[in-house]
Amino acid sequence: MQKENYLPIIIESLVFGKNSDYPLYIKTGDRYVLYRSKALIFSHNDVLRLKNNGVCNLYIKQEDKKKYDEDMIEHMKNITSADNKSFEDKAVNIYNYSKIYAQYIMTTGNIKDVKEQLKQVIETMVEYILMSELALVNIIHMSQHDAGEVGHGMNVSIYAMTLAGRLGFSNKVSLYEIGLAGLVHDIGKIKISQQLLQKQNLTEEELNEIKKHPIYSKEILIENEVDSDNIINAVIEHHEASNGTGYPYGKMEENISAFGKILIIVNVFDSLMRDLPYRIKLEKKDALNNMILHRELYNNAFLKEFVLLMKESGEKNKFIANTKFIA
Ligand SMILES: [Fe+2]
Repeated sequence: MQKENYLPIIIESLVFGKNSDYPLYIKTGDRYVLYRSKALIFSHNDVLRLKNNGVCNLYIKQEDKKKYDEDMIEHMKNITSADNKSFEDKAVNIYNYSKIYAQYIMTTGNIKDVKEQLKQVIETMVEYILMSELALVNIIHMSQHDAGEVGHGMNVSIYAMTLAGRLGFSNKVSLYEIGLAGLVHDIGKIKISQQLLQKQNLTEEELNEIKKHPIYSKEILIENEVDSDNIINAVIEHHEASNGTGYPYGKMEENISAFGKILIIVNVFDSLMRDLPYRIKLEKKDALNNMILHRELYNNAFLKEFVLLMKESGEKNKFIANTKFIA
């Protein structure tokens, strides 16, 4: 049996109490062993048993992926629209499903093959965010715990959609575009070696190579037939700065797109709250204050709205109490 014929799936994405239309496998060493034949019901106890045995992923055969995707999307939508589910449950559900696709595209660079699924996941997230302000608090709360590039993409996507909504870009197409741009803005890093990305004390040449990642991201989007100018511009501009000190082009604010201005803010915010090789993470309040201190880097009207947004969601969760925006 060939290794590449099997795809990992997150256990939580399976529908409990339902017959699956495809068999599930477990990986032991380099081998894939049948765990459950098709048509056997998968229960919550099965999940607990697997987790107790340290199993996080099950596997499906490549040929069953289409069925699995259809099941998953249907399940996600059912939970999101269910009246008997709490807002917290819905947030967990949407977050887990989004992560499956985020993980896939950020590790393979392949957006094309999951474009339709990704669209449905992001649109479900948009619908959820539009339901109530409480939705945002829950989803931001979820996003706090996820480290790594995939978690960063998810967070930037969530913050970007929320800020865009607050700034009046609240139609579904705009929210989808900024959501996807946020998710994939750093996808170009897969063209740069991990060793270089993790390295401290970079030479000028190495730093210049890392600074090309927005251009690589754009190339990957084009290779994957993502042809929306709003998405492509936002992605390539996510490290620009209003005063022209950003990269790769050193654009001034008037030449940066609206979605680019949004991604610049939310990307810095989430990055400041992460441990990076060269810096220790900041608390949310300190990250916002740091951005206010350097407000010449950002569109000030957008930054002000973002600080208000974070403060409001923070108050609801008692995260932030003492941040002030000095206009
Ligand atoms: Fe980046």
